[in-house]
Amino acid sequence: MGEPVSLGEVQETLLIPLYGRARDAGDTRSILGDDMAVKLVEEIDYDFAKFTGPSLGGAVLRASIFDQYVRDFLDEHPDGTVVDLGCGLSTRFDRLDNGRVRWFDLDVDDTMALRRKFFEDTTRYTMIAGSLFSTEWYEQVRERSGPVFLLSEAVLLYFPPEEVNAVLGQLAQAFPSTPLAFDTGGPIMMNNQDRNPDFRQVPARMKWVCEDPRTLEQFGLALVESRTFASPQREVASRWPAKHRYGMRALSWFPPVRTYKLNLFRTEMSEPS
Ligand SMILES: C[S@@+](CC[C@H](N)C(=O)[O-])C[C@H]1O[C@@H](n2cnc3c(N)ncnc32)[C@H](O)[C@@H]1O
Repeated sequence: MGEPVSLGEVQETLLIPLYGRARDAGDTRSILGDDMAVKLVEEIDYDFAKFTGPSLGGAVLRASIFDQYVRDFLDEHPDGTVVDLGCGLSTRFDRLDNGRVRWFDLDVDDTMALRRKFFEDTTRYTMIAGSLFSTEWYEQVRERSGPVFLLSEAVLLYFPPEEVNAVLGQLAQAFPSTPLAFDTGGPIMMNNQDRNPDFRQVPARMKWVCEDPRTLEQFGLALVESRTFASPQREVASRWPAKHRYGMRALSWFPPVRTYKLNLFRTEMSEPS
């Protein structure tokens, strides 16, 4: 009998990217090589096989683009701090650990309780049980001096716009001049969730529509770059099998591909006092 799962609605969605990464690990040309995801899928008591749709592969492409944002940051700041907000059962720390980074993985209580069954804190790796919407975790991160990278992958999409707008403003104020990576989706993606075979298997639905990430600059962010599956970083594209590299480029016009964006922002400098 595997590890039972008892997760809230949004929390359950973490099992889709987990299964996507596990399936990818079994491919001869694996993009992420996430063998830990295979172990987690084997050990968690859940009907993963019900997920069969495009979100599995999409989660892998998405993770590889976010990985590169973090890699670029760590190339510049090898002793920097990375905070993954809504980490789920991600193994990004293991993928990107350079032996020096200080890493915080944050997620809500039930997800973190599940995560703690498989992962342990170390001197450079800390799991925090809490909400990204609360300010309680800020001090723990800010105790560290030096540059911080904040990322939140496939999390904000599930929350109402007013909550997302508020938290973006809050993060911009609390972490000035800090890179912040997260994804946004346009109305086509949001309006077609019930047609997505993976989403049909879970109760949660995405709520935040953002057609143009530049509109978020009003909350104290500056857009540094915005990518789609059709425009991954060169290093990332070179690790994608040709079917994704050329296939996604050929689909660059397709509204769900064109409007799902993997964004890198930088929060504005604080106002001089
Ligand atoms: C689609 S999953 C993405 C997980 C992970 N980022 C990944 O890509 O594998 C959504 C995640 O949001 C987390 N989540 C839900 N509410 C949250 C909150 N208030 N604060 C932080 N994380 C939250 C869930 O527990 C879940 O891990």
